Amino acid sequence: MRPASALTVDPAHFRRVLGHFPTGVVVITAIDAAGCPVGMAVGSFTSVSLDPPLVGFLPDRSSTSFPRIRTAASFCVNVLAADQRELCQRFASRGGDKFAGLEWAPAPSGAPRLAGVAAWIDCDLVSVSEAGDHYFVLGRVRELDAQADATPLVFHRGGYGGIEPLPPPTPPLPPELASWIERVAGGPPRRVRRLDRWRSNHVLDVDTPGGTRTMVVKAPRVPMAVQSRSRALSGYGTHRESVVLTALAGSGIAVPTAHGYSAEHGTLLLEWMPGHTALPDTPAGRAALLREYARQLAVLHALDTGRFAEVAALDSAAGSGGTEPGPLGAVLADYDRRPGPGDPLLDLARWWLTQHPVPGGERCLLHGDAGPGQFLAEDGRITALLDWELSHLGHPMSDLGYARFREGLYPSGAFDAFVTEYSAACGRPVDRPAIDYFTVAAGLVMLAGVSADVRRPRAHHPEALQRFWWDAVARMALCQVLGESLGHPPQDTAAETGGDDLEALAGLLSARLERSAAGTKVPGGAEHTLLLARALERAVSLGGPGGGTGGGSGGGLPDAEADTAELLGRHLPDARRRQDEVCALVREHAAERLDELVGYLGRRAVRRLAALAPLAGTDTWDGGPAPAERPLGPVLPEFS
Ligand SMILES: Cc1cc2nc3c(=O)[nH]c(=O)nc-3n(C[C@H](O)[C@H](O)[C@H](O)COP(=O)(O)O)c2cc1C
Repeated sequence: MRPASALTVDPAHFRRVLGHFPTGVVVITAIDAAGCPVGMAVGSFTSVSLDPPLVGFLPDRSSTSFPRIRTAASFCVNVLAADQRELCQRFASRGGDKFAGLEWAPAPSGAPRLAGVAAWIDCDLVSVSEAGDHYFVLGRVRELDAQADATPLVFHRGGYGGIEPLPPPTPPLPPELASWIERVAGGPPRRVRRLDRWRSNHVLDVDTPGGTRTMVVKAPRVPMAVQSRSRALSGYGTHRESVVLTALAGSGIAVPTAHGYSAEHGTLLLEWMPGHTALPDTPAGRAALLREYARQLAVLHALDTGRFAEVAALDSAAGSGGTEPGPLGAVLADYDRRPGPGDPLLDLARWWLTQHPVPGGERCLLHGDAGPGQFLAEDGRITALLDWELSHLGHPMSDLGYARFREGLYPSGAFDAFVTEYSAACGRPVDRPAIDYFTVAAGLVMLAGVSADVRRPRAHHPEALQRFWWDAVARMALCQVLGESLGHPPQDTAAETGGDDLEALAGLLSARLERSAAGTKVPGGAEHTLLLARALERAVSLGGPGGGTGGGSGGGLPDAEADTAELLGRHLPDARRRQDEVCALVREHAAERLDELVGYLGRRAVRRLAALAPLAGTDTWDGGPAPAERPLGPVLPEFS
């Protein structure tokens, strides 16, 4: 055996290797024999025993602070927070008054407890034993506490850091799905990573005989059992997308290759395409991209419909038997089968469509749910058009209507440039009334799709919160479009309508957004907060005669019951009856009271948005079940 004192390891090497072990940093404080506060930064702190409660640390024999600390009967361990780096340096330096100008209070033992620390552990000194060139100090815990949400300071390889939570682990693909991918792609899936939080889409690598390829597995929108019960979900989903993408191969439209569709799982295997869905930051960049998108749509709409016979077959299978073509017909068929009271805004928009029919005749393949967010771009160029689940054969203005509706949800400010470019690329003017029609149709499809879930909220569903946002924002956008069709100017006077409150709310949300962008929040929360803030900003401009955002009570957010009583001419205490009566009013008097109804339903939409405000930035679901302490989702106001 070698003598214990023999130096067998190079000290620099020892330090470097041990530096790979990350430690927290504490400041050990005490009141010395002279009654002065003393302290030193320590990384060698450790928990020792639970019963009895013991902790320990290892001061260097050369420390000048420790001899003063050991004269005290007690010491306090101050666990530094990530923003206390300067404090660490102050207590790691030798000499001087380390406590000058410092905020601290005595712990129960009297030892200094520093302000802003992540945790403190107040101890009685039990023993000091020798440990090489250090001492080992054992302390018995008297009292301790921690700040629940503080991030600790971490020392690692000679530098400081904080702790960043790792992204949630990607759960493995179900074995049957993995073997389906292997069959279709020609190799087993590797490096599977979840693509987005709401739907379980994944990106993965596949080693094919021709080399490694990156692919995307797109999951069905809802479980297959649920999908089979709905005309809209079963007719407009990943199966349709696979048919459309296959038909578009070699057409000149930039689309990902569809490698296969699994009828059993409802999943679609696509080639991965480079690019991002987010629009550029500058107005000019956004306009340039939307102009390019307009040119691509013009090419798409000019394709010979003869090559899309399979899509036409799907269209007739998914038809509602009603008058509305495409996803709108399917969505309305589902809506009509829904139990419970109707939705006055859906009914009103549906009635409005019957009053503004679009002459048929023209038919082409549509992108479907067209607009910003539905294509990828890189270096200012579009790399792929995505999401063909709602694609069908129909009127070309449908894509422009969807893009306008999406403009209400995710404003690009470039819709006019988009329309002008489309018109130039087609060589003919666009049909404005038809765009209006399809904008309302898009709103209906969107709203009918989410409103059923929102009426029976399942807060633990990973998409629940997103659906609340969508419901509220879609209502807002729909009222906006209906208001514009009535000739309401897009800008109304905020002051007269109680918009001041909404402006303040929108400002608050934007501020929250900045905070969450600077912090460690998951982007989804920020994204939805932004959506909400923008919707509220736009809400300020919703209006027209009787259509302002303020309530009958004058100024501020409207009082729901008083507002409904004003509309109905009487007060009804029961929310369900109020809603039924508003539906009846829409059925019987939509024509004469359209303006009033649009204003009323617009104010309702604003109320819903405002009700979601407290949840702004809190949307941090990772797609798994929500933990018990998480809020159960917003409590929406009764629609009445
Ligand atoms: C991150 C970090 C961890 C440290 N850990 C220890 C330790 O575990 N033991 C120790 O004696 N000194 C440690 N030090 C160094 C002491 O803080 C420092 O040498 C000492 O406080 C110097 O002043 P003094 O003479 O007043 O004790 C650490 C310093 C830093 C920056």
